[in-house]
Amino acid sequence: MKTTKDIHPPIEKIFPEAEDFLPINGTDYIEFYVGNATQAAHYYKTAFGFQSVAYSGLETGNHDTQSYVLQQGKIRFVLTSPLNKESEIGRRIDEKGDAVKVIALWVDDAEKSFYETVKRGAEPYMPPRVEKDEFGEVVRSGIHTYGDTIHIFVERRNYEGPFLPGFKAWETDFKPTEIGFKYIDHIVGNVGWNEMNKWVDFYANTMGFAQLVSFDDKDISTDYTALMSKVMSNGNGRIKFPINEPAEGKKKSQVEEYLDFYNGAGVQHLAIATDNIIETVTELQARGVEFLKVPSTYYDDVLNRVGKIDEELAAIKKLGILVDRDEEGYLLQIFTKPLEPRPTLFFEIIQRKGAVSFGKGNFKALFEAIEREQELRGTL
Ligand code: FE2
Repeated sequence: MKTTKDIHPPIEKIFPEAEDFLPINGTDYIEFYVGNATQAAHYYKTAFGFQSVAYSGLETGNHDTQSYVLQQGKIRFVLTSPLNKESEIGRRIDEKGDAVKVIALWVDDAEKSFYETVKRGAEPYMPPRVEKDEFGEVVRSGIHTYGDTIHIFVERRNYEGPFLPGFKAWETDFKPTEIGFKYIDHIVGNVGWNEMNKWVDFYANTMGFAQLVSFDDKDISTDYTALMSKVMSNGNGRIKFPINEPAEGKKKSQVEEYLDFYNGAGVQHLAIATDNIIETVTELQARGVEFLKVPSTYYDDVLNRVGKIDEELAAIKKLGILVDRDEEGYLLQIFTKPLEPRPTLFFEIIQRKGAVSFGKGNFKALFEAIEREQELRGTL
């Protein structure tokens, strides 16, 4: 006979402090508010190999917004633009540029997720509501997190449609080859001065997450820039949210630069997992995606630092991929340049070979690369 403990045993073992009042199956979708969803969809398809899934707009009876849904592996992006002037979405784009608005989480019970988190102090964004069409029904609810970013809880076990009620399947012959994106490894939020612990407490107390690792400003600083970071994870480890705040340095922190251009706290980067970073990054670079480059001297002693790796050093060096090791194994990672005019959102591509950390050993080399970019922007 199964007991409750049999059904949910790992959580107490892996994260003794994590509570299971908010079981999450994974990320459901990431919604970006963008100035031109038509062109953004084409960019994410062409450059990153996403596939067309669903559409909402004038042709489907939606007179307020146009949204394209794209997918690759388990990653689903929604790109939304306003159709009319003086909209809430339009004002948000004016304030923040193209950016992440919604981190949607896939749950079995969206109503319970809402009440359990609101009971623990979450600010409601959208009370639970049932959305229906010919494919079944979806229950969604939402709460606020840092800045004006939203978590939407999505319960879709009784739904067979392409995305959500109101969306139609997006049929197209243009299907660029995928580049090996598998799932979202982690999503990083930048928050204001002295606000990291407030949001760490939010994820711990309101959402039942536990802290994975912490860095302090000595770990993550160069001569100029500095930041502090803590990583929050849900019970099954499928959702990992590092939270950064700026720290004092000789010059402006990259987190502060983000906050200035974003006018507040928000998503700084999405880290996307691949099983073969060399193939993925080779293809991305061939399609014109630009990455931060570390100086070639980084590779002179990298193997002394991280030990033996399976990949050819020459290939790693040619592509500018970074390597780090922890007690569990190693990881390979690389960071794109910002994906829009403002120095705000970027992607990380990551391949884990056992490592469970986030590349702390690369932060110094990486931040020096970011500072060279800041120097060019005149914001250092
Ligand atoms: Fe990251």
